[in-house]
Amino acid sequence: MNQPIIAPSILAADFANLQRDVELINHSDADWFHIDIMDGEFVPNISFGFPVLEAIQKHARKPLDVHLMIVQPDRYLEQFAKAGAATITVHYEACTHLHRTLTRIRELGCKAGVALNLQTPVTAIEDVLDSIDQVLVMTINPGFGGQKLVPASIQKVRKMRRLLTEHQSPALIEVDGGVDLNTITALAEAGADVFVAGTSVFKADDPAAAIRTLKERPFA
Ligand code: DX5
Ligand code: ZN
Repeated sequence: MNQPIIAPSILAADFANLQRDVELINHSDADWFHIDIMDGEFVPNISFGFPVLEAIQKHARKPLDVHLMIVQPDRYLEQFAKAGAATITVHYEACTHLHRTLTRIRELGCKAGVALNLQTPVTAIEDVLDSIDQVLVMTINPGFGGQKLVPASIQKVRKMRRLLTEHQSPALIEVDGGVDLNTITALAEAGADVFVAGTSVFKADDPAAAIRTLKERPFA
């Protein structure tokens, strides 16, 4: 198993102290910033948009992993690339021409990710694997932080790992939702590489320590 990649989700940060929380991640063992963009249509919640993303980007010194929970993401890809996204992940369920969208993301110089909702089978992306750098297996229904991981999603990560191995795909598997010290080991054993963690990091008494422990836990 490679070193786990830890991506704290800014959604759980204190938005009145955003710079402080961004610096906290800069100085921690975290690897990426996870940025959740919600439009109130693809998911029943609205998070934040470009002004906030640009404020984060100004201070962030680690890659921005942008998770678009929006309909018709093609409309905004260029703007997210310009705002400094290292990876842009779109939802399978939101893309009519997924291959075209992924190709465009790479043309813009970003890594391309696809997120799958709980009910979407891993085989949905089988025919576009060559265009994918990262697969985000949702471990909750997207839209809100602080939810409990849906146990069946662990088996889905295992299936995704099998699919990627079968196709010799180097794509990373990212898991998002309910990742904490109780769930991270099972997810890592199932084959996940990247671990998004919002509540378990930012609501901890010592977020930097929480990140360190998450990073060490899969090997414990
Ligand atoms: C939910 C988002 C997640 C969320 C995770 O739709 O995609 O990234 O912030 O939050 P926790 O870690 O609290 O489950
Ligand atoms: Zn997310």
